[in-house]
Amino acid sequence: MGKVIAVANQKGGVGKTTTAVNLATSLAAVERSTLLVDFDPQANCSSGVGIDPRTVTASSYEILVGAVSFEDAIRTTEMPFLDLVPSHINLVGAEIEMVDVPDRERILRNAMLPVKDRYDFIIIDCPPSLGLLTLNALTASDSVLIPVQAEYFALEGLGQLLNTIKLVRQHLNDDLDIEGVLVTMFDVRLRLANQVANELRRYFGDKVFNTLIQRNVRVSEAPSFGRPVLLYDATSVGARNYIALAREVLKRQLHGTDQVPTDLASFSAGDGHA
Ligand SMILES: Nc1ncnc2c1ncn2[C@@H]1O[C@H](COP(=O)(O)OP(=O)(O)O)[C@@H](O)[C@H]1O
Ligand SMILES: [Mg+2]
Repeated sequence: MGKVIAVANQKGGVGKTTTAVNLATSLAAVERSTLLVDFDPQANCSSGVGIDPRTVTASSYEILVGAVSFEDAIRTTEMPFLDLVPSHINLVGAEIEMVDVPDRERILRNAMLPVKDRYDFIIIDCPPSLGLLTLNALTASDSVLIPVQAEYFALEGLGQLLNTIKLVRQHLNDDLDIEGVLVTMFDVRLRLANQVANELRRYFGDKVFNTLIQRNVRVSEAPSFGRPVLLYDATSVGARNYIALAREVLKRQLHGTDQVPTDLASFSAGDGHA
């Protein structure tokens, strides 16, 4: 059975899409059959792996409204082990369109079931909100990977996200695990960045990935060439960081980590400042 990982944080610009694209690519690079699901109306994942959103007719939107099967929205990419379910700007309207649909939080989970076995990993890129799209992603997932930007206010809103995860566990998906907390756009020279990483370790213990994703210009350039950083510049720091992350995810799949000891939803002390 494939492992489904949602990449979520309601804050925009923290590295969700970058992480979804480059983690999926790195897993595919070590021959794990991987599906990247673009669940953000911005469709940056799709363009990030070279698929022009304007050419997309079957996307996560059509899946949600029942116009196509999940299977029919899957596209191959230029990487042999990486497939994509693209997104489309239409997805913006999906939250409203789904309001009256029964079991609306489980649409993605149910739609995805028939293809789950085909992949080793399914990585879902969530939009920057905790609305129905993210709820669908969390309900469909085995675990959630939380990117946190090593910046001022990094921890702001994390309590809200953890509370949402707790509610999803209680009502929709009691198996939802925290895959890990990932420090992104890390700058070794900045004391603040180190403080953020340390504070996260205090709260989340070994749920924080050892891999730090460093700020690296190649990572931010790659999408404009429609390529994951591994294909754009395989020797860059960014490519190496994401390969290391993929290794850690594989290792965790084999060995697991200790659970976070405290009740995650009570996490709020660090809110608002790093
Ligand atoms: N490690 C990194 N180094 C440099 N720029 C990065 C890095 N990670 C993300 N970025 C840039 O930061 C911006 C926000 O990242 P993105 O992945 O789109 O965030 P989100 O999906 O959470 O909104 C993008 O312009 C992206 O290219
Ligand atoms: Mg994004």
